[in-house]
Amino acid sequence: MLDTVDEALRALVGALTLEQKVRLLTGADLWSTVAEPAIGLRSMVLSDGPSGVRGPVWDERDPSLNLPSATALAATWDLDLARRYGAVSASEAKRKGVDVVLGPTINLQRSPLGGRHFEAYSEDPLLTGELAAAYVRAVQEHRVAATPKHYVANDFETERYTADVELDDRALHELYLAPFEAAVRAGAWLVMSAYNSVRGITMSENPLLTTPLRTSWDFDGVTVSDWMAVRSTEAAAKADQDLVMPGPVGPWGERLVAAVRSGAVPEAAIDVKVLRLLRLAQRVGALDLSDSALRDNGFDTAAVASHGGVAVRNVPAREPVPIPDGSQDADVSDYEGRELAREVAAAGTVLLRNSGELPWPSSGPGSIAVIGEAAIRPRTQGGGSATVVPAEVVSLVDGLRAALPDATVTVHPGVPVQTGIHALPRGSMTDPQTGEPGLRARFLDADGGELLSEQRYAAQLVYLGTVPAGAATLELSTVYRPGPDAPATVRLGVAGVGRIHMEIEGDTVIDTVLGGGGEMLGAALFAPDVAAVSVAVDRERPVSVVVRLRLENDAAAAGLVAITLGTEAAHTDPAGAVAEAAALAGTADTAVVVVGTGSQTESEGYDRTTLALPGAQDELVRAVARANPRTVVVVNSGGPVLLPWRDEVSAVLLTWFGGQESGHALADVLLGRTEPGGRLPTTWPATEADVPVLSTTPEDGVLRYREGIHIGYRAWLRAGVTPAYPFGHGLGYSTWELADLAVSAPEQDGTVEVTLTARNTGARAGKQVVQVYLSRPDSAIERPVRWLAGFAAVSASAGESVPVRIDLPPRVFAHWDGGWRTEPGAFAVHAGTSVVDLPLRGSAVVGAGG
Ligand code: BGC
Repeated sequence: MLDTVDEALRALVGALTLEQKVRLLTGADLWSTVAEPAIGLRSMVLSDGPSGVRGPVWDERDPSLNLPSATALAATWDLDLARRYGAVSASEAKRKGVDVVLGPTINLQRSPLGGRHFEAYSEDPLLTGELAAAYVRAVQEHRVAATPKHYVANDFETERYTADVELDDRALHELYLAPFEAAVRAGAWLVMSAYNSVRGITMSENPLLTTPLRTSWDFDGVTVSDWMAVRSTEAAAKADQDLVMPGPVGPWGERLVAAVRSGAVPEAAIDVKVLRLLRLAQRVGALDLSDSALRDNGFDTAAVASHGGVAVRNVPAREPVPIPDGSQDADVSDYEGRELAREVAAAGTVLLRNSGELPWPSSGPGSIAVIGEAAIRPRTQGGGSATVVPAEVVSLVDGLRAALPDATVTVHPGVPVQTGIHALPRGSMTDPQTGEPGLRARFLDADGGELLSEQRYAAQLVYLGTVPAGAATLELSTVYRPGPDAPATVRLGVAGVGRIHMEIEGDTVIDTVLGGGGEMLGAALFAPDVAAVSVAVDRERPVSVVVRLRLENDAAAAGLVAITLGTEAAHTDPAGAVAEAAALAGTADTAVVVVGTGSQTESEGYDRTTLALPGAQDELVRAVARANPRTVVVVNSGGPVLLPWRDEVSAVLLTWFGGQESGHALADVLLGRTEPGGRLPTTWPATEADVPVLSTTPEDGVLRYREGIHIGYRAWLRAGVTPAYPFGHGLGYSTWELADLAVSAPEQDGTVEVTLTARNTGARAGKQVVQVYLSRPDSAIERPVRWLAGFAAVSASAGESVPVRIDLPPRVFAHWDGGWRTEPGAFAVHAGTSVVDLPLRGSAVVGAGG
């Protein structure tokens, strides 16, 4: 009799043929795994992640909750919010039939130029690891799997498919592996291997998949490849790489069967991968181990029974592997999801500077001039595979008008933030076939025969694995009628990859081939080229537009097609726009300028080339601040940007990519209805020249992490350079005093307990993030100047004192030297509210064991 689930799973593995087993190890398509009805295994659905769950289709007709992006969550420093964020993500996954969420992204923000920083948490491994652990636990509590990614050292995007990272052992273990260890120890059921190489070996073949992942951390889950990251049959199969995604075509399949038959790959290597896959299936409820389920599925239970002479009868499906039932819960309503998005957005908003302008009175400051493209069309998430399609997005203009229905809110779009096009809004399009709002999308075969015709409501369309077989052309047609504020002439255009043909009122206006990016799967999505023409159009003179995209490139063949029909930014004269905006600001009681990065600045697929805000946004801020001394600047970016005017304005708020409710959250913060609860999870530089670790560009294919263990604030402290805003900084609306620091002797398990009192000395309730750092000035080994060892988000009402307790686990005292070692003796303990604002000091004396 089998008495553990694992034995039952092993029996199932043993009952499968080699072909059946190998088939399971490559995806069935872009987003799902192969089913094996013979053993009651259904297909599992995987989906990005990590700031919401897109589901297997990228489609505005099946929208997702767009949560604030990872940097916003990290800026909360609040593990309870991370837990609730994970629970909502699980609920979204269930609603969308998703078993595996492809997140969290826990690479480190090594250089501020990293294009994908919005998707990762922090430059600090402890903060990243704790947030990741809280998120993973919460997602999986609901029987949805989480996938910490990208293992490991994928902290940049330049040449990401091929770059080789060279780094020393201490940096590898103390920085880059540390968050993965935390996530695995929190129980993660998958880990995603990265595209890049480390020390000359691509990560889907790398021995790091075995040690430390399997041997030291006891990871018993599935290593899934990043999409198309597995490049070999034998080397990857012999490594601890379990699942190749996507499929069905890939380097394993029949080639792997042959490699096993020839003895080049041991069958035992296949068996262990299948075992892990079945374990995952059992955890997410995709495999029913009961005897009757096996028989119902036509499986010969005797065959299982004969394997090892055991019977699968009476196998307890969920014991002893501690898998939560999960079926009862994770049912978060749409309203609760949106409320959480709003709460996280405000809790992650960082007040960088405030000369007394904020908060406004709750009834509003009188008339408000709201300026900037991002005030009207906020960036609520970063670009690339993390994108979800929200049902609606609340801008600051919407948020202020909802909060202050009687206020005078005037609006100016400021200056263009990016080249490229904005998708036509839903209300400006009419489907010529139905006369209803939207556009008509048709897939045609090579002879022009219709394969699929659908009415769509969005003009940015992405098909991921949903292109009908035999499609040669995608055709979009609509009647475009701009809104009342549109100029008389608009630049109408298309973004995509491939041959594009565009007709307006039956006349051909564009016929060209568009490129962009060109690297593997993501090109059409991350960096498409644009073609546009000027068209005279207004509300009374709508025009019919037809666009045809030929589907003849590799991405289309792999099932990926992306196209956007839209307009280029209206202002071609930035100086004129700046003058107009400043004039408007001069007429209002107060001005808010929203600045930020564009979708070509921060996205998966590439890093940034500059930290400066794109376009003439710096000029815009300065002109508005001169016109109105009460100017608040809001920064809508996923990672650090330069703010050269920061001391010339009344207040600076950083909202990150705040999710779909960001406009409500920002209105809440401006009006003091909510505290701006964020603290910087990464250092913000004053100039690019100051940044100690900057380059993300490999030299001859190799990116050398020459700085070793000194990244982020550690590097700034070592260089002795003052950034614009340090790690951990953020003001809130109240004032605080920390006192009574006490540091315990290590407990039996090596934990050191730090306690102190946090007193809210201000006139209103508030939040503070108490941070504890360690240093070891007299150390015999090289160390960071100081490093984060623990933190706690606390709230208190006006005048209230709250006790704070922060436990420091033994690991924070340890360093890597072929294994984890602790230098015995006294570590200085610093407590405060940023890495440089540390009024309290104590000492922890530890032994060699930690
Ligand atoms: C990204 C992953 C993502 C995958 C699937 C890759 O290009 O790097 O983060 O999960 O695509 O969309």
